Amino acid sequence: MCGIVGYIGFRQAADICIAGLRHLEYRGYDSAGIAVIAEDGQLDVRKVVGKLAVLGELLEQQPLIGSTSIGHTRWATHGKPSVQNSHPHLSCDGRIAVVHNGIIENYQELRTQLEAEGHTFISQTDTEVMPHLVEKYYEGDLRAAVCQAVADLQGAFAFGVICADNPGQMVAVRRFSPLVVGIGEGENYIASDMGAIRKETDKVYVIADDELALLMPDSIELTDLDLNPIQREVFVIPWPADAAEKAGHKHFMHKEIHEQPEAMHACLAGRLSDPDKSIVLEGLNMTEAEIKSLRKVVLTACGTAYNAGLVGRFIMENLARVPSEADLAAELRARDPVVLDNTLCIVISQSGETADTLVALRDMQEKGAKILSVLNVVDSSIARESDGVVYIQAGPEIGVASTKAYTLQILTLELIALHFAEVRGTASAEQLRELKAALLQMPEHARVLLEREEDVKAIAAKHYEKPNALYLGRGINLPSAMEGALKMKEISYIHAEGYSAGEMKHGPIALIEPSCFTMAIAVAGEVYDKMIGNIMEIKARSGPVIAVADDGDEQIPVTGVDAEADPDDVASQPNDMIWVPPVPELVSPITVAIPLQLLAYHMADMRGEHIDQPRNLAKTVTVE
Ligand code: G6P
Repeated sequence: MCGIVGYIGFRQAADICIAGLRHLEYRGYDSAGIAVIAEDGQLDVRKVVGKLAVLGELLEQQPLIGSTSIGHTRWATHGKPSVQNSHPHLSCDGRIAVVHNGIIENYQELRTQLEAEGHTFISQTDTEVMPHLVEKYYEGDLRAAVCQAVADLQGAFAFGVICADNPGQMVAVRRFSPLVVGIGEGENYIASDMGAIRKETDKVYVIADDELALLMPDSIELTDLDLNPIQREVFVIPWPADAAEKAGHKHFMHKEIHEQPEAMHACLAGRLSDPDKSIVLEGLNMTEAEIKSLRKVVLTACGTAYNAGLVGRFIMENLARVPSEADLAAELRARDPVVLDNTLCIVISQSGETADTLVALRDMQEKGAKILSVLNVVDSSIARESDGVVYIQAGPEIGVASTKAYTLQILTLELIALHFAEVRGTASAEQLRELKAALLQMPEHARVLLEREEDVKAIAAKHYEKPNALYLGRGINLPSAMEGALKMKEISYIHAEGYSAGEMKHGPIALIEPSCFTMAIAVAGEVYDKMIGNIMEIKARSGPVIAVADDGDEQIPVTGVDAEADPDDVASQPNDMIWVPPVPELVSPITVAIPLQLLAYHMADMRGEHIDQPRNLAKTVTVE
């Protein structure tokens, strides 16, 4: 799982590749490399272990001059991060260079065969078979050789290939891994996603599986693997060139947290304008008859998107009255689910490229489910394989820890569930009206919550040195606890568990002590009284509590506080309070999420962690 870019044209190619790779570091950042066809006709390569900045420093000392280049940022799958294992990989004669995103499943067999034929390998990677295969088939026509090589491969790939003998050509090809070709004037580009080349162009061809592109400075030819020409419409990237910059924020994550009010507006626009009007969901692609005859909804996703799916399950069942399940995408196939007639599988993904999610989609499709995707990135692999797509309209999300995509995924699922409830007649007009009005208020609530950032920061300052945290919630806010804990652990490395408050007494209560803070989500609703009970139990065991409660709640700040306790016992003090605007319980996971994102962000920042690129993680996980 990695990011690839390529440039062919008249400018210094290395600079453009490095700038493009900067936008792809979310895909992996344990090593990086670049190859340029130099003016003397040789391939020049620079590779480093570490982030892209390290490659940038090397290039300052040892620049690469030339106007054809491919680059790569890596997230190791086969072979540890090392210079030898980083891309680009070369043929034996050093004249063919390849960058790759994906996994070649039959590489071992191919490697044995190529070694027997006299090829020498220097890395442990699966990728290295590709330059050797191209070398084996190369007879002067790079595109033809790539086609032959690809015919030998099993697995997933997006490749960029250059050859020192053909300095005016670059070949790119994909199967299952994302690839776009950027269209310039006298120059062209390849990239794993549009964001990597948006600064250079807003016009791209989105390449489909088993399609190949031959790029020259002045032309692009798209073909299938039998070299039959393909006509493809130009896709115009719908966001401005600076959308992927930090715009004055210290981190992308911070910028993206702050983009939520505006993104919520964009998500609601054209879909919900008035509590008395119906919801319009373009892209849903379901007739009223289909919605009425639904027998089951299965929501599936990974990571943060899965937590949004858990909220989705709750509202789908509660509002639309369809039996609903939420499954981790990596687990769905494993349990070989029974798929009834009229089952809808809702696939949730920010990137639209997560391998486990794509595999779950295909499995559910094969079993007869209709697929509706809730996605952010436009025209992704998941989008192409779905029956309907509703976009969350969050704009580019770069920070590895997903923030705005999460709240917008929930907002979108709320719109879908309300629409279903409306069509199926399963919610009263009054309830529909109340929830629609609450959703219309969300951008304003988000703005108010962001204005309270300093209060959250002060709480972060009190607790950021603690090693452990327990996040407790119930009902529709159990997923909020899970997502809050996920945010905390992935960027601050504080060990945080998201747990049902109802389960607390069955295990996690053993962790309670002064150095473990508990986040208790106690907004108004069905489970409020029970949450109060849980807070009392934690305080009785000297556990410090941070509580999320509705503005004006007077009970929680002092719940469980023991006036007789030792005043030096921090846990005997009033609870730290995160206040949120009161909203109906069914939409409260959206408001609750924002301060929990801010808390994780500030604690990680106070601990000096790499917030946008946490260790071992990648934003888009394109391997199972
Ligand atoms: C990775 C990211 C998470 C993300 C998950 C699913 O693990 O680090 O932030 O939630 O993948 O990604 P998707 O693009 O499918 O939403």
